[in-house]
Amino acid sequence: MRTFMTASDLGDVNKAVQEALEIKKNRYAYKHLGENKTLLCVFFNNSLRTRLSTQKAGMNLGMNTIVLDVNQGAWKLETERGVIMDGDKSEHLLEAIPVMAQFCDVIGVRSFANFENKEFDYQETILNQFIKYSGKPVFSMESATVHPLQAFADLITIEEHKKVARPKVVLTWAPHPKALPQAVPNSFADFMNEADVDFVITHPEGYDLDPKFVRGAKVVYNQDEALKDADFVYAKNWSAYIDPNYGKILSKDMSWTVSAEKMALTNNAHFMHCLPVRRNMIVTDDVIESPQSLVIPEAANREISCETVLKRILEDNF
Ligand code: CP
Repeated sequence: MRTFMTASDLGDVNKAVQEALEIKKNRYAYKHLGENKTLLCVFFNNSLRTRLSTQKAGMNLGMNTIVLDVNQGAWKLETERGVIMDGDKSEHLLEAIPVMAQFCDVIGVRSFANFENKEFDYQETILNQFIKYSGKPVFSMESATVHPLQAFADLITIEEHKKVARPKVVLTWAPHPKALPQAVPNSFADFMNEADVDFVITHPEGYDLDPKFVRGAKVVYNQDEALKDADFVYAKNWSAYIDPNYGKILSKDMSWTVSAEKMALTNNAHFMHCLPVRRNMIVTDDVIESPQSLVIPEAANREISCETVLKRILEDNF
C-alpha cells in the first residue's frame, strides 16, 4: 500500500479487520518497522481524535511524528495553479509539498472540502497534489470527500460488537446547524459496501450521496422504516451533494434527531457517531450516554485503524 483513501486500498476489508484485531492485542509488536522513519501529519483543519490517534499509531510503530498545523504558524498556502499571488497567501502548495517531503517518510493530510468548487473537492485536488509532488506514501486523515481511517475504525468496532454474523447497519442523516462535508458518510458507505453487513442509508430527499460511494446500498427516505430491526445506527450530518445544492443545508428537521423513541424501533441497536457530535441536534443525551453507545470505543479504534494502515505502508515501501 502506498496511498490510503478508499476501502479498496486495503484489499479484502474483512482480512484487514482481522489484521487490525491482531494488532490491537499487541500494539507494540511492530515497533521495529518505523525505526528512523518520520511521520508528518499536515492539518489544514481542526482535529482532536485524528491528531491524537495518528501520532499514537506512529509511535506504536516506532516512528517519529511531526505535526504541522498549516493555518497556525506556517505560511498561508495557495492551492490553485495560475493564481496571481497578490493576496494573503505567501507560499504555494507546489513548493511547500516538496519542502515538507524533505523532512519525512510518510505523510498524512487533513484537508476538508471547501464547498466553493465541487470538481476541486471531488477530484481530491489537495490530497492528490501531496501524492504527486511529495514522492512519499500519503494517506487521508479526512480529505475533501473521504475519511477512510474513521470508516475503518467503525468497521473494526462493528466487528467487535456484532451479535449476528450479518448485522443490519443503518447510516442515518441527522440535523446540524452548519454545512458539513460528505467525507464521513462517503467513506462509511464505501466500507460498509465491502463488509459482510446488511447496509441501509436513510436521509431526507435531496441528500443523496455520490453514487460512487452508495453503490448497491438500499436508500430509504423514511427514517422510521429504515431503523426497523437495525443492529447498528450510525448517525451523521452531511450537506447536499447534488447540484445545484452542493454544500448547502436543505433541512434542519429535528424529527431526524436520533432519540430513545427512534432507537426503540431497532433491534436494541448500538449507537455510533464519529465525533465531534452536537448533542440534542444529532443525538439526544440519553442515547449517546446509554450502554448501547459506541462513540468512545469507535474513537479508541482510530489508533488501531491507523496503525494497521501505517504498518502496511511501512512494510510495502521501505
Ligand atoms: N472523527 C474525527 O475525525 O475526529 P476529529 O475531527 O476530532 O479528528
